[in-house]
Amino acid sequence: MLHLLKHPLITHKITQIRKSETGTKDFRETLEEIAGLMAYEISRDLPLKEVTIQTPITTCTTSELATYVVLVPILRAGLGMVDGICNLIPTAKVGHVGMYRDHETLEPREYYAKLPPCITEAVVMVLDPMLATGGSASATIKYLKEQGAMQIKLVCIVGAPEGVHRIERDHPDVDIYLSAMDTHLNEFGYIVPGLGDAGDRLFGTK
Ligand code: PRP
Ligand code: URA
Repeated sequence: MLHLLKHPLITHKITQIRKSETGTKDFRETLEEIAGLMAYEISRDLPLKEVTIQTPITTCTTSELATYVVLVPILRAGLGMVDGICNLIPTAKVGHVGMYRDHETLEPREYYAKLPPCITEAVVMVLDPMLATGGSASATIKYLKEQGAMQIKLVCIVGAPEGVHRIERDHPDVDIYLSAMDTHLNEFGYIVPGLGDAGDRLFGTK
């Protein structure tokens, strides 16, 4: 299911990172802030368990998170979302999956993976600011399922209809969270209007 997270602060901040004059420092900081704002919504259905605690006044029964949360940024650009979400879920563990798009074929190529062992019981949030053709996200989710992950959410910032349809087709069990749905992909597979190459803008590599 697609969840479009609309909020004036998120929309304003996405406008800032879309601007071509926004430099690396502001791009990085604002991307992290957007991910932080999204964290509240993407964690809305996390399960709770009852616990009995002692306050300075009395004992009481209340609730705590009842699940591991594992963040899996898709390298490179997904790294820019980790700290914003960890600020709200500081107990989250972080796995990494390296994927890059072949510029000719637009097919994803995996080059790195390291996951925490609790992946099989955790709520796994796959992070990537860009959902273009959906190839990288789909391949990452397939890999995570092969490693035993069973509860997966895909968290992106800007998406194209092509990418959403691809994930809905390949992984109908995965909830997709987006903050902006753009119109289409151009002939090079870039999201229009988009924000350009997220990895390059985040790390200043172009
Ligand atoms: C970008 C982006 C996604 C992917 C999206 O990564 O961060 O991972 O492209 O495109 P898709 O939906 O068509 O697969 P890129 O391949 O440019 O690698 P990078 O993060 O190392 O720059
Ligand atoms: N990857 C990006 O970084 N940007 C796009 O627009 C598409 C894929």
